[in-house]
Amino acid sequence: MTPTPATPPSPTDRPAQRPRIAVIGAGAIGRMHIGHMAQRTDMTLAAVVEPTPAGRLWTESLAVPVFADHLAMLEAVRPDAAIVATPNATHVDVAIDCLRHGAAALVEKPVADTLDEARRLLAAEQEYGLPVLVGHHRRHNPILRRARDIVASGRLGTVLSATALATFLKPDSYFDMAWRRQAGGGPVLINLIHDIDLLRFLMGDIQSIQAFSANTARGFEVEDTAAAILRFKSGALATLSVSDATTAPWNWDLASGEAEHYPRQSINSHYISGTHGSLTLPQLEVWSYPGARGWHDPLTQERSALHRGDPYQEQLRHFRALVTGEENQPVCSVQDAMRTLEATLAVRTAALTGQLVSLAA
Ligand SMILES: NC(=O)c1ccc[n+]([C@@H]2O[C@H](COP(=O)([O-])OP(=O)(O)OC[C@H]3O[C@@H](n4cnc5c(N)ncnc54)[C@H](O)[C@@H]3O)[C@@H](O)[C@H]2O)c1
Repeated sequence: MTPTPATPPSPTDRPAQRPRIAVIGAGAIGRMHIGHMAQRTDMTLAAVVEPTPAGRLWTESLAVPVFADHLAMLEAVRPDAAIVATPNATHVDVAIDCLRHGAAALVEKPVADTLDEARRLLAAEQEYGLPVLVGHHRRHNPILRRARDIVASGRLGTVLSATALATFLKPDSYFDMAWRRQAGGGPVLINLIHDIDLLRFLMGDIQSIQAFSANTARGFEVEDTAAAILRFKSGALATLSVSDATTAPWNWDLASGEAEHYPRQSINSHYISGTHGSLTLPQLEVWSYPGARGWHDPLTQERSALHRGDPYQEQLRHFRALVTGEENQPVCSVQDAMRTLEATLAVRTAALTGQLVSLAA
């Protein structure tokens, strides 16, 4: 293992093959990352940071140093990289501290909770020259990679329309935590952000947004349901429906089965339509006309092989490759994640104001 430098390394001075990676925040997703890291031999879990005694109890079985404070960990351990799996509002401060101490960062989504904060991280990324990857993990799902290839191949012609469904039910106990009942803690910023990022990954940047939201089911300050219309720079239009109060299976998590803690349903949640074909996700069915084209003619359905693979594992593999310098383009950069954040915040603004929101050019 390469000795860890006391000062931030230059981008050409990357750690060797088995980087030492710390996990900051041992909550739901931090534990998942730790579990995935344990299956790999090409990286080492260097340390865990968790401020709560209850959270630290969970870490007791891990044979690594555990800290209550990330700065103390960064000073003492000097990891090559860190996974920032803390609450949204802390992402930028913690990630910048990592960069200052010479550690590359995998920052969980959303990259920040405001655009100003995201810009601060972008500036730090440029200042320190270390890789920062944002955890929009769906981009690492082979299903989505295949979908992107199909769209890019031109088989669908010009993509004109897309529909994304994110309807599911959060159990009553989910709302025991006060922040989840308050503005900002709802399905637009927590869940719809994934669907917006998915559509951006397939269809490019978004130009403008209109939206409605409602709290009809629970009456909390936060929305339980929202509907948005997106215009892409390409000219394509998309409609998105999200609700965390519905008895419904139509959402990516259940349809793709990409995380073990959700039961997999063999259904679709996303529909992309172009002038010459349509694509469903995650089933990867391509619909097209084999001969004459028109709504009186029969469409055929072709099914691509389903490429199953754990996107969280693939994300870790990619993060390691960024840290060692074997790869140098983050699949989701800070700048890219900032655009997804901007669009997601715009859904909320559009719903609150009733106005169309245009995004930065
Ligand atoms: N990509 C995904 O699939 C996915 C899934 C869930 C959550 N997330 C994101 O991961 C982040 C964490 O979400 P979660 O569901 O794991 O939350 P969580 O509340 O379960 O865990 C967060 C943990 O961070 C700890 N923490 C708080 N401040 C800290 C600090 N300064 N330093 C170190 N630890 C600190 C908390 O004590 C807690 O244990 C959020 O940004 C969330 O949006 C991503």
